[in-house]
Amino acid sequence: MKRHVLIVLIAFLFLAANAQKFENIAKTPPMGWNSWNKYGCNVSESLIMGMADAMVSSGMKDAGYEYVVIDDCWQVARDDNGEIVADNDRFPHGIKYLADYIHSKGLKFGIYSCAGTLTCAGRPAGRGHEYQDALTYAHWGVDYLKYDWCNTGTQEPKSSYTTMRDGLFAAHRPIVFSICEWGSNKPWEWAGAVGNLWRTTGDIDDSWNVMIGIFLQQKDLARYAGPGHWNDPDMLEVGNGGMTTEEYKTHFSLWCMLASPLMAGNDLQNMSPETKSILLNKEIIALDQDSLGKQAICWRDNGDYQIWLKILSNNEKAICLLNSSDEKKTVLVDFALLAQAKAARWGAASPLKLENFTVRDLWDHKDLMLKESSMYIDLLPHTVKVYRFIKK
Ligand code: GLA
Repeated sequence: MKRHVLIVLIAFLFLAANAQKFENIAKTPPMGWNSWNKYGCNVSESLIMGMADAMVSSGMKDAGYEYVVIDDCWQVARDDNGEIVADNDRFPHGIKYLADYIHSKGLKFGIYSCAGTLTCAGRPAGRGHEYQDALTYAHWGVDYLKYDWCNTGTQEPKSSYTTMRDGLFAAHRPIVFSICEWGSNKPWEWAGAVGNLWRTTGDIDDSWNVMIGIFLQQKDLARYAGPGHWNDPDMLEVGNGGMTTEEYKTHFSLWCMLASPLMAGNDLQNMSPETKSILLNKEIIALDQDSLGKQAICWRDNGDYQIWLKILSNNEKAICLLNSSDEKKTVLVDFALLAQAKAARWGAASPLKLENFTVRDLWDHKDLMLKESSMYIDLLPHTVKVYRFIKK
């Protein structure tokens, strides 16, 4: 074989091997913590290290949370070589030091930038520095990049995000690429080949109305989600104080039904028992992390009472009853019909029979004792019931 042919072949195999690595990230929706919802621009080395410590000590790491992500405001300038410069007062040992610390805890490290000239908080952003920044991030040990969409002028989203994606590829470090374009350019239609997750809406807020509004906007997006590429209805507000415990349970359940990325946004160092019981509900998390990667669909829509269905691996499924109204509802739930729901919608060969399943309530952590196949269930305002049909 001629020498140059051999070199080309080796280069090709090298690139193919790296491309393969990139395909193996975010096979299930990424889980972690992000600074923005609670701390905004008030980020620092000690805050982030404290959160990493708390992620381990609180049991979050064991429950699957792994990325610790600094959002906006860690960066202050570019130096004479165009290198991004971190805020030295807030990050006195530099970003690599922080990444090393997070890695030493068995966690992964994420950072934020933006496709425009400035970030949303007005800090230096990535435009024109994509490959350079990607190399810097790889050198620091970044595992996750959230890339925003402020100050982008006439930039075209798909090509802008593709440039950064190619920069990450060229840096040869598998980095989860989180596209934060807020949904106005329908990223679900093009982002599957560019990033691992993409925001589908504007920013979440710690309020019932904003949270449920965002949830309802996810209704037609199920077909775009799957292993390696997820719809992102924004980060979690659980534990931040603006909703009731029941509303936070609903928020968390809905995000898990949607196979959404689960980025906690609260103070992990001071969690109430209620907050912990939500963020650490492993049975609900298991729906989110199911290996099939199917996003739930709205199976019955009666306005403010809806039934959502998530197909799980092993021919199992989850059902979520949602009462988004301000009044209590008593609903007759036909579990035999719900058992067949998959067969009806997806044309399975034989109908699935209720007697082959145990129906488990994933908030009560109990199997239902069904005397008949239908029963009346009370749904308080703004609450859910989540059931898993488990094969006997
Ligand atoms: C945008 C994003 C938020 C957050 C801020 C930071 O609003 O959507 O999630 O990253 O920018 O400035």
